[in-house]
Amino acid sequence: MTAATFPGLAWATPPTWARSVAAHVPELLLEQALLEKKAAAAATTFLFRVPADPEAHRALSALAREELVHFERTLRLLQQRGLPLATQSPGPYAERLKSAVAADMPLRLGDELLVAAIIEARSCERMRLLADELQDTEPTLTAFYRDLVAAEERHHEVYLEIAMTIVPSTVVADRWQRLRQHEAAVLQSIPWLPRLHGGLPEASHGG
Ligand SMILES: [Fe+2]
Ligand SMILES: [Fe+2]
Repeated sequence: MTAATFPGLAWATPPTWARSVAAHVPELLLEQALLEKKAAAAATTFLFRVPADPEAHRALSALAREELVHFERTLRLLQQRGLPLATQSPGPYAERLKSAVAADMPLRLGDELLVAAIIEARSCERMRLLADELQDTEPTLTAFYRDLVAAEERHHEVYLEIAMTIVPSTVVADRWQRLRQHEAAVLQSIPWLPRLHGGLPEASHGG
């Protein structure tokens, strides 16, 4: 894996992160199921909030269906490993990102779409790191993450393009820059957790 920053992100997760979570596959898979379900719900909710542009609606609908397919694939993996679909308390990542969203419409909706784009981009970046980290020990999981990455690579662009239909492009450019920087700062300050969206392992801080 190169250290290049994934498109849409202001900061690259160091490979030490993947090493630090690789021993926590059961928690990662449970989180993955919950994240896919949330991603499908988020896309569906945006269908009711963005203007009725057929192209945007088609893209959001396809995205929601893809997330549900990911959810079902993750459920199968949990079942194959005898892992229950339990509850899991959410980490601070998503809430911290949402705290930077503008208060008033339409900027608020534009920001929420940009936050969704950033979450998609970060998920994709980290699943790719996990696929690389697990390729010698967990070939089934590596193939699973690589399949998901192929779909997730497109998702951040869908949200970014729809945001540009809501808010003027110069405003989107400014908000995009700020929200990406905010996301990078959040990930470098929240605690490490055995999760896709956790902070860094201790030794990585300050590096
Ligand atoms: Fe997904
Ligand atoms: Fe996605």
